[in-house]
Amino acid sequence: MPGKFITLEGVDGAGKSTHLNWLVEHLRTKGRTVVQTREPGGTPLGEKLRELLLHEPMHLETEALLMFAARREHLELVIKPAIARGDWVVCDRFTDASFAYQGGGRGLPVEKLGQLETWVQGDFQPDLTLLFDLPVDIAAQRMAGAARQLDRFEQEKADFHERVRAAYLARATEMPARVQVIDSRQTLKIIQKQLELIIASE
Ligand code: TYD
Repeated sequence: MPGKFITLEGVDGAGKSTHLNWLVEHLRTKGRTVVQTREPGGTPLGEKLRELLLHEPMHLETEALLMFAARREHLELVIKPAIARGDWVVCDRFTDASFAYQGGGRGLPVEKLGQLETWVQGDFQPDLTLLFDLPVDIAAQRMAGAARQLDRFEQEKADFHERVRAAYLARATEMPARVQVIDSRQTLKIIQKQLELIIASE
């Protein structure tokens, strides 16, 4: 049996990383073999591109092209082989992030992103996407508590993150069968219960 491909998305500060770690452990206790990975990144070349993407100023189209170049590598070397083996792949961000950040945030036309999406992945899509949604002001307060260097995206102003959030929600409306929106204002316990139910039906 082929495995499953699950992606996690959300604005910076929505708690995606915490839920990702919990989800991976949960799946392992259920006996699944899980490959935990992330974008941009997930391969040796992809991780080098991640360093550039997160810290080096560049033209917005260059940014989009590098995101999809890293994704192509990731799909061929990691994601597709794992699914073919029957593993479950849990990925921290994927193509919805390009629509949200390069599209919504930076203003790259959706048509261009759609062309890159088709080129790089054909009609391949995640089996399930968990979108952790949180008002931008609350997400910013949560991030302010983190004592670390902010990357190029995290340093953007509130209106950028508002557009990112809106573009994510638009993708969810467009593809309701794939994208499950989780209200991240809820407690960890309630969110975990919700995730448990969603995963049980996969
Ligand atoms: P993030 O996933 O938030 O990692 P961390 O939790 O370590 O900060 O950081 C990745 C950043 O890359 C995030 O701000 C969104 C951005 N990004 C894009 O702009 N486009 C994309 O296609 C992807 C995958 C990520």
